[in-house]
Amino acid sequence: MPVEGFMQKSFHFDYELHSTWENLAESDLQLVELAYEAMDLAYAPYSQFKVGAAVRLSNGLTLKGNNQENIAYPSGLCAERVALFYAGATYPEDAILKICIVAEGDLMPEGALLSPCGSCRQVLLESEARQNNPIEVLLVQRSGEILVLDTVQNLLPFGFSK
Ligand code: THU
Repeated sequence: MPVEGFMQKSFHFDYELHSTWENLAESDLQLVELAYEAMDLAYAPYSQFKVGAAVRLSNGLTLKGNNQENIAYPSGLCAERVALFYAGATYPEDAILKICIVAEGDLMPEGALLSPCGSCRQVLLESEARQNNPIEVLLVQRSGEILVLDTVQNLLPFGFSK
């Protein structure tokens, strides 16, 4: 029975789940490889949790980022934001088409979902808004499964934005 002044709403989104890498496009596979390369170079002596990110820009270039920790813990930065800020600092006029994220370390139990933290989602959201073009997000799980989201909007509903 409808109640006046009240509406039940819902948020729903679709994403792809690839059980293997095999059906990914060649250019996406390349991005996954770059993210792993970045992960291997992460500076994560405190958490031992290495994260790698790779972005593909509309100008055809790819950029890498990884987490950079510090003895003053909050001074470190996540891989995603290192990559996004690197892109913003060097190619502010070029859209970020995709970001691929991988991670390795005992911090996350096997089977846990690898997905960007809230602060990185916030930065992703503004990167998308500022370029007025969606950013595809590839999340490579420890199992080898890959989740593909079409837009950051789906990672941060009700995000803080202009
Ligand atoms: N980290 C990332 O790089 N990305 C995330 O989305 C979550 C966490 C890093 C931060 C820190 O260096 C380590 O992983 C443990 O939290």
